[in-house]
Amino acid sequence: MYKVWKLLLLSGCLAVSSLAGAQDDQAPGQAQANQGAGKRAELAQRLPTLQNIYGRQHLSLNGRWHYIVDPYETGFYNYRRQPFDQSATGAGGFYDDRKPRSKDDAVEYDFDGSPTLAVPADWNSQNAKLEFYEGTVWLRQKFNAEPKQGKRYFLYFGAVNYEAHVYLNGKKLGSHKGGFTPFQFEVTDRLLKGGNTVVVKADNTRHQDDIPTVNTDWWNYGGITRDVLLAETPDTYIEDYQIQLAKGDMGRIEGYVQMSGARRAQDVTIAIAELGVKTTVKTDANGRAAVSIALPKNKVRYWSPEDPKLYAVSIAGATDTLNDRIGLRTITTRGHDILLNGKSVFLRGVSLHDENPLIPGRLRGEGDMRMMLQWAKDMNCNYVRLAHYPHSEEMMKLADEMGLMVWAEVPVYWTISWEKPEVYANAAQQLTDLVVRDKNRASVVIWSIGNETPVSPVRTEFMGRLADTVRKLDSTRLVGAALEVHRNGDVVTVEDPLADKIDLASFNQYAGWYWSNNKEMLKFSFKVDYNKPVLVTEFGADALGGYHADVDTKWSEEYQDQLYKNTFKLLDAIPGLRGITPWILTDFRSPRRPHPEYQDYWNRKGLISETGKKKLAFYTLKSYYDHKQQQYK
Ligand code: GCU
Repeated sequence: MYKVWKLLLLSGCLAVSSLAGAQDDQAPGQAQANQGAGKRAELAQRLPTLQNIYGRQHLSLNGRWHYIVDPYETGFYNYRRQPFDQSATGAGGFYDDRKPRSKDDAVEYDFDGSPTLAVPADWNSQNAKLEFYEGTVWLRQKFNAEPKQGKRYFLYFGAVNYEAHVYLNGKKLGSHKGGFTPFQFEVTDRLLKGGNTVVVKADNTRHQDDIPTVNTDWWNYGGITRDVLLAETPDTYIEDYQIQLAKGDMGRIEGYVQMSGARRAQDVTIAIAELGVKTTVKTDANGRAAVSIALPKNKVRYWSPEDPKLYAVSIAGATDTLNDRIGLRTITTRGHDILLNGKSVFLRGVSLHDENPLIPGRLRGEGDMRMMLQWAKDMNCNYVRLAHYPHSEEMMKLADEMGLMVWAEVPVYWTISWEKPEVYANAAQQLTDLVVRDKNRASVVIWSIGNETPVSPVRTEFMGRLADTVRKLDSTRLVGAALEVHRNGDVVTVEDPLADKIDLASFNQYAGWYWSNNKEMLKFSFKVDYNKPVLVTEFGADALGGYHADVDTKWSEEYQDQLYKNTFKLLDAIPGLRGITPWILTDFRSPRRPHPEYQDYWNRKGLISETGKKKLAFYTLKSYYDHKQQQYK
């Protein structure tokens, strides 16, 4: 049982975690360089990502945060647009959380008197005035702490969309770009004994050179959309580990453990008591050790959707212990087959956004995440495409537990600024943060490096480098992307130079919706000349839930249902088809969908409406999957 250190919070439960700032303002170690300059507030040290945030005693800073909407960034710049933020003390901005010093002192903001937002949650879904808001919002939380000698403290954010600047007690910790991946700062020497104040400047303004760019078909939900945790670790702690079957070898675990801190060279024991296996490794001067464990024959229950067995894994060093629940499985391909634990499988999937259609807003916790994944299971899915960006860590853990394989993706979506090195660095960082965070999740079987990116030499070079990056980070999973297709009359050809760099012939197609209609769509045929498993990663049609008409009337449930029936005929004719993820589980918000009668800023391709109503096509897809399940018994 962990020692719990006394922290009084305005609200929240106990939890401790930590993670490095993936894109703060400086290179590692530059904080010391700044001291001499004195030019900028000394920024928090950034450290590599910590594994298993939720496996540690973590204190949650979730709850009601006071907020100030700041479209002109008055809290960050003076009236000449000189940045407050770069001053030595950082004094002047909203992050000072200042009160008037005298009756002559006019302070024109006050967090205490400002309204509150629930964190984690986007602001768009919490205040009608912010539904379409894109810009800066300042958020503040106060808490008490009693930091102890010999311990280290970290401030962790599950995600802030899109750019975050973080301050503790008025001093800048650092900043982060990327709306869907975790980051954190070490605050060991900055936590005060007693009262502390954390202030976040969150800005969801879109920019062409961001990842994603200005143009997406989903709502730009801004804010602190995932957990905020404050963490305590021993002085020398378990920073990272990977424990999984060796690629294609069901008799051996292969991985590594990484310690951090002064005493990082130490003995570390990895044990799975239920299997009676244990090994002790010696980490080297850098704190790292390879792990290899032979598994007992005929004793392991390999993870699968039918039997999502998770083993309790303990990782115990001299100074720190962590426990995790890990499923053991292999995922490989052989020609057109996808092999899960050596057996050919068909991925009975569905795509989904990180959005609760009933609110609507970002998924906020186990309750609504489990609702979404249960809807997928109600359809007899064994697989989900978590589009188009990293979903939360809790979502991946639920997929582990509920038995759903996962396609995880970074938002390298549509028309990226391929030619800019800083844009590549951003994409590679987001991909790295995703892989580092979720590499111990058995459910994750595919890393996707992007979606529908127009073919050009600079794009294929960019995406090819991303594929190389993800394979270096993790050689145990498949690499995918939604490749480009082109139509020549009635023949749809999947032909994309990027195909050589990924393990799947995966593509989106919209026969019957954007291309043609139900009456004529059976004229199409698909040409997929790759000796790889074929995954159709999107197809579908809009249907306004409850709108009924004949099968040739677009926007009706009958039209959508007939399109699904027609599509199964087209796809079953593709040799090598090994999975589909129709677009999409539920209707979702999009500023690209303004039709006043059918859309009202909703993309209606959901199989479930925004009231939770299952449309006709939901049941048609389920019966198709029941049949597929028999075929692959
Ligand atoms: C595209 C895209 C999706 C989009 C869908 C649609 O294929 O990948 O993000 O929502 O089509 O047009 O509905």
